[in-house]
Order: sequence, then C-alpha cells, then structure tokens
Amino acid sequence: MDNRSISTVVIITTMQTEAHPLVNKFQLKEDLNPVFPMGVPWVRYFGTYKDLNINIIWPGKDTILGVDSVGTISASLVTYASSLALQPDLIINAGTAGGFKAKGASIADIFLASDVAFHDRRIPIPVFDLYGVGLRQAFPTPNLVKTLNLKVGKLSTGDSLDTSPKDEASIVSNDATIKDMEGAAVAYVADLLKVPAIYVKAVIDIVDGDKPTGVEFLQNLLAVTAALDQAVTEVVDFINGRCLSEL
Ligand code: ADE
Repeated sequence: MDNRSISTVVIITTMQTEAHPLVNKFQLKEDLNPVFPMGVPWVRYFGTYKDLNINIIWPGKDTILGVDSVGTISASLVTYASSLALQPDLIINAGTAGGFKAKGASIADIFLASDVAFHDRRIPIPVFDLYGVGLRQAFPTPNLVKTLNLKVGKLSTGDSLDTSPKDEASIVSNDATIKDMEGAAVAYVADLLKVPAIYVKAVIDIVDGDKPTGVEFLQNLLAVTAALDQAVTEVVDFINGRCLSEL
C-alpha cells in the first residue's frame, strides 16, 4: 500500500463555465508554455493549493466551431496527454450530468460515480458487446463519500446530449443514475495508464422529466456549476494531506 500523501491532482473539466470558477478559487494560472502539442485548444491551469499541485485541464474550444470540446474524444485525448505529462496521483473528472429522477436524482445533486460505462457503443457480438460497454469502477472513496455526504450512483456515458430509445435501454442495463458525455472515456484512459480516477458530477437536467434537455441544461447552467465548484473544492480540501488509501 502506498502511504504517501496525494501530491499531484489532475481535474478534467469540459465546459469553460465549469473550469473558470475553479481556476479562480484555487488561484491557478494558465500554462503559457503548454505541455500539450502546439496548436491544440487544450488548456492547463496550474498552481499549488494547500499541499497539492492542482492542474485543471479544459479541452478548450473546438478549433473550427468555437464551442466547448464536449464528448468522449476530447476527454480521452486530454486525459491521456495530461496523465503522461503530469503523472498525477489522482484524476478527478468534474462536470455536469443528466440525472434520472426514477433513480433518485434531483437538480443540483452532487454524485460520486461508483462505476462508469458507455451506453452508445453497441456491438452485438460476444465479448465485443462487453468491450463496447467498457464498464470500469471508480477508485473507491468511502471516507470521502461519508464525510461530504455525497450521493453515489452509476454513471453512463455517450456522445449525445439527448437520449435515444436504444441509449435509454443501455442506460437501464448499466443501472445508471446519471448520464454524461465524458466519464467512461476518462475511465478508459485512466485504467490504461493505471491512474486512480474519481467522477464528481452535478445534476443539471432530469432525463426522465418533462423539460427538453437543452433548455433545462441552459436554464440550470450557472446555479449547477456553482454547486459543482463548491463540491469539487470540498473534495480537494478532503484529499489534501491524505493518501489514496484514506479516501
Ligand atoms: N451533461 C449534462 N446533461 C447531460 C445529459 N442529459 N446527457 C449527457 N450529458 C449531459
């Protein structure tokens, strides 16, 4: 068992609205000599907060369309590049998610995912089906969950904000309470590179509710990102001075 305190943390975000308040909270600076290849939109903010080296990674704006680079491709690329460059002790994937009220999710709830899997990689051939689902477990954090009184649930990931009937069937089969567009991709890379990873997700829309997802998402964006940033700060405060086995 590794009893060293956690020292370097990489926080993978997606939206600028999620990243910026955290950058200010931890008083981080943008890396102007990036550890990333020239020309990519990925941004690293870094600094020390308490005893931790904190890195917030934001995949940046799409170079052609100028919107936040949401989804699994950007998430896996930045997780890979930042893990190789920074050798973190822990990855925190922080973001917003859709929640299922039938599974106990409400707007602005903060979840720590116990398991993550994909719901839009359907490959109906034996064993490839399981590869498509890509189920992985989050690093176990029983003390963090108890101390911060967080909700725990399974997270299902896909590259669409909406939920097609086939996606819905896979989400049910994944037994998921929350749904995002990055978690399982971060988990895949974290597992490849053997970096412990946790998933802090704030519920911004109710998937099995009656409001259109896009409308509800934009309506709740500011309030829910504030709740997310508060939760991530509490998670980082808890991690500070602790080793992995104490989480
Ligand atoms: N992120 C926030 N809300 C989401 C939803 N309903 N589906 C996928 N990703 C999301």
